[in-house]
Amino acid sequence: MKIANKLPINSKQMLSYSHELKLRQQRVERQLKMHLQSVQESRRLREAMQYAVLNGGKRLRPLLAYAAAEAVGGNMEAADIAAVSVELIHAYSLIHDDLPAMDDDALRRGMPTCHIAFGEATAILAGDALQTLAFELLAESPDLSTGNGIRLKMIAELARASGARGMVAGQMTDIEAAGAQLDEEALGNMHSLKTGALISASVMLGALCTNIASQTQLDSLRLFAGKTGLAFQIKDDLLDVEAETAVTGKQQGKDAQLNKPTYTSLFGITGARERLSETVREAEDALRHSNLQASGLQALLHLIADRSY
Ligand code: IPE
Ligand code: IPE
Ligand code: MG
Ligand code: MG
Ligand code: MG
Repeated sequence: MKIANKLPINSKQMLSYSHELKLRQQRVERQLKMHLQSVQESRRLREAMQYAVLNGGKRLRPLLAYAAAEAVGGNMEAADIAAVSVELIHAYSLIHDDLPAMDDDALRRGMPTCHIAFGEATAILAGDALQTLAFELLAESPDLSTGNGIRLKMIAELARASGARGMVAGQMTDIEAAGAQLDEEALGNMHSLKTGALISASVMLGALCTNIASQTQLDSLRLFAGKTGLAFQIKDDLLDVEAETAVTGKQQGKDAQLNKPTYTSLFGITGARERLSETVREAEDALRHSNLQASGLQALLHLIADRSY
């Protein structure tokens, strides 16, 4: 599973990446299936969890975890648990994000949202259960052969990114900000928390899992990951305006309907695109300064910024 690792990448390398990315998507898909299958206590709960996870996500967070592991010279087996745990948290965050009390969305990945398919109570519980399963796997998986110190670091990283200092805080701000005007700094902070934090954790868990990254490498990766996370949500704001429901599988124009402050509502499409390019440049700079051979991460950064859904 070694691929060429040099900045900048050319189009030939890009092609070999897309093959590699497909293999890794299939890899995490198998892992997710296996771990969800092991939930045996309630069939309905398991089915709701499987519905929310195994329904066509792009798996960008697992791909970031694998690419970060690769950038520090780690191995893919150790990265599996990093990849699975971030994706489980992501899936939980989407179930709750779509609930009537939050964004009230009926469509996700082109299918009825979890609460439409299973009812609100089951959807809330499926989200709760996905969240705790992520931490259970990190705490117990034999695939993580690194010492307990690293396991604890990974758990702390994911917990911080997911909760009141990360994604949940961003979601809280998002709800409070509906109908309000945020300035650029406040908007950037909200996006960095609600989406950026988990994107950062994806990179950091991938880099941490084999315990061979130096502190300097981890610091540069964190800088890169923060910028990449912000770019991710700026693009999500743009897609909400520009991309059709049939392409994204999410209702187009929902942010405006809910009066959410977004990069497009604050800066218009052109201004949002400019800020996206600027943020991508900053992420690339961070990666360049890291002295890591990280073409995989660079390819993913561009995939995130250029994606059509
Ligand atoms: C959507 O994330 C929600 C945000 C945090 C912006 P993705 O675009 O990664 O969604 P899936 O997992 O591919 O459906
Ligand atoms: C979601 O942001 C961030 C999460 C923590 C899930 P959005 O509300 O913009 O995500 P979508 O557009 O519904 O996927
Ligand atoms: Mg939302
Ligand atoms: Mg939403
Ligand atoms: Mg959105």
